[in-house]
Amino acid sequence: MAELPPTIAAVLKQAAPTLQGVSERGRFEAELLLAEVLGRDRSYLHTWPERVLTATEQRHFHQWLQQRQQGVPVAYILGRRDFWRLTLSVNRDTLIPRPETETLLEQALLRLPLAQERRVVDLGCGSGAIALALAQERPQCDIHAVELAEATLAVAKQNGMANGLSVSWHNGSWFEPLRGMSFDMVVANPPYLAADSPWLAAGDLRFEPRGALVAAEAGLADLKHIIDQAGDYLLAGGWLLVEQGYNQAEAVKRLFIDSGFFNIGHAVDLQGIVRVTFGQWQARGESDEWG
Ligand SMILES: C[S@@+](CC[C@H](N)C(=O)[O-])C[C@H]1O[C@@H](n2cnc3c(N)ncnc32)[C@H](O)[C@@H]1O
Repeated sequence: MAELPPTIAAVLKQAAPTLQGVSERGRFEAELLLAEVLGRDRSYLHTWPERVLTATEQRHFHQWLQQRQQGVPVAYILGRRDFWRLTLSVNRDTLIPRPETETLLEQALLRLPLAQERRVVDLGCGSGAIALALAQERPQCDIHAVELAEATLAVAKQNGMANGLSVSWHNGSWFEPLRGMSFDMVVANPPYLAADSPWLAAGDLRFEPRGALVAAEAGLADLKHIIDQAGDYLLAGGWLLVEQGYNQAEAVKRLFIDSGFFNIGHAVDLQGIVRVTFGQWQARGESDEWG
């Protein structure tokens, strides 16, 4: 019997079930990979299901499909991930920006008035997701970003250039490269998983840098450090906002209280998880100005 021609429709039909063990969105991911191989967007696949793939396109698609079958995240295969209104380059040196981090970003934006200049720092900037989205949404603000891993920072800088956004980048550990500076806002999505977290053996996390994911003291060590030090770098009335793990909200709130923050609150992500804690530094009597 003659073999069916490798049309877009036929190739996708075959590919999608092979991703079943890896992803709940096998068909969607197969479409993403194939669209990229063809240099088109996904709508092209639906418009031209009878289009026959060349041998080179078939080979390329199968290589990527195999990587995905082995668990490699789609973002690392494609080399990019969308975050907020940005498309960011990512590689194995960077955490893949997560939708839940947009909750942290939204909370930061709520506290940055549209037309007022503020100085903000994003600690542990990774691909630059938070710092760059802040620079995009609040171009009048002076945005800084700190990252420990040089290779990661290089990706963030590249993302800044590619998107034409201005951020002052600093290499170093948390506040250490910021000595002598003060800020209206500190934002951080630090590593917060415990070293024995079962999540580390599942999904995309298996391929992401450990230094972006894991912190000592059951995941709380970096959060503790940042919350403890932030007061030395915040102006009176300034905000600290951090992302935390699904079960860390109470512990993090306690750290904010113990460090002397006021107006402490939480924000919930789209999955209903208490994902963000925020608080104001020496804010009593100044909350009118800061809202
Ligand atoms: C959870 S990732 C967040 C990345 C990015 N902000 C995002 O939300 O997609 C934490 C980041 O903190 C960085 N990091 C870890 N320890 C650090 C330290 N001591 N000082 C500065 N950055 C650090 C990691 O390299 C990683 O890029």
